[in-house]
Amino acid sequence: MYLRKLALLNFKNIAQGELAFGEGINCLVGDNGAGKTNVVDAVYYLSMCKSAFGMTDGQSIRHGEEFFMAEGHYASDRGRSEQVVCSFSRKGGKVLKRNGKEYERLSEHVGLIPVVIVSPADSVLISDAADERRRFLNAFLSTLDRAYMQALMRYNAVLAERNRLLKLNPDETMLSIYDAQLIEQGERIHARRGACIEQLQPLVAEYYRRLSDDREQVELTYKSELNERPFAEVLQAARQKDLVNEFTTSGVHRDDMVLKIGGYPLRKYGSQGQQKSFLIALKLAQYAILAREQGERPILLLDDLFDKLDAGRVEQLLHLVSDDSFGQIFITDCNPNRLQQILDRAGCGYTLYRVEEGVATNPKETL
Ligand SMILES: Nc1ncnc2c1ncn2[C@@H]1O[C@H](COP(=O)(O)OP(=O)(O)OP(=O)(O)O)[C@@H](O)[C@H]1O
Ligand SMILES: [Mg+2]
Repeated sequence: MYLRKLALLNFKNIAQGELAFGEGINCLVGDNGAGKTNVVDAVYYLSMCKSAFGMTDGQSIRHGEEFFMAEGHYASDRGRSEQVVCSFSRKGGKVLKRNGKEYERLSEHVGLIPVVIVSPADSVLISDAADERRRFLNAFLSTLDRAYMQALMRYNAVLAERNRLLKLNPDETMLSIYDAQLIEQGERIHARRGACIEQLQPLVAEYYRRLSDDREQVELTYKSELNERPFAEVLQAARQKDLVNEFTTSGVHRDDMVLKIGGYPLRKYGSQGQQKSFLIALKLAQYAILAREQGERPILLLDDLFDKLDAGRVEQLLHLVSDDSFGQIFITDCNPNRLQQILDRAGCGYTLYRVEEGVATNPKETL
């Protein structure tokens, strides 16, 4: 999938702008705070209906304005055209349209324009609690698999109900009714997550190996209480604890992904650059699976390319993504010279865009 044209109105610091992009590498350069990441976030918005950086829709409206609008024109790998418009107004809420037709549910759109983002904000996947890693996995699997998204939505709804019930000193028959539904969805989610991490693991290891020039080995595993025994048994064993605590203490809402480097926890023992490389390997693995399963190469967003990476790893990364299995790429950096130098050295063709105070200008240079 490739974004041919992007038009923005009142999106964060961008008052108005229209940009045409190329199929290969598009570089956005400009000073700190110029609006490069904002452009990247707009691209993400058009795919995922929300900010990649945890900004609410309201926070994404340019200060002092009432609404924002983002419009993207795409061409699929098979040549199909798509137009997507995402708008949000303080009064009317969010509206998403595909080729002029409004979606009934935003979730119907997720997956149409696959996107993968690498940004400094990914560090929460390493340093924060398990819920960030689950969020990543859920967003990834929801893009890939509608049935997963539905199972997850049902699971969360039943979980909320069960937790509500636990506060009311419930009788055990009532609880068992909820348990049956929770088990059905939970087992589905567990199976899908397990299969996904099994697919990711070798890809992550291979991408990391290439990024690091074979220096270290990394490992990704799935941690779930359901790995040990069926969900029904897990819930049964936790029932008394649940009644005392008044919430559901076990289940796939407690799952985690364990990240290791050289056999040790990445969070504690990985250097900043090693952690970053792991995250990039994870995102590239996500990219590879999305491309394979959807038959469509996602848009790859590399925000702040040089963040925590040495020049050698950046060059390795550029080598990796300049191969045919990758499609359109957006790269942001505040230093145009070092970016151009490294792209030239890696032998990559690219188009350069300059972003200044929320205004992006069309190619200054095209190679
Ligand atoms: N809703 C908003 N309205 C107006 N301006 C906003 C809004 N949200 C963010 N900004 C502004 O956008 C700017 C940040 O833009 P962005 O993060 O895209 O910068 P950048 O070019 O990526 O910079 P860096 O090189 O530091 O990463 C800040 O000046 C911020 O105040
Ligand atoms: Mg930025």
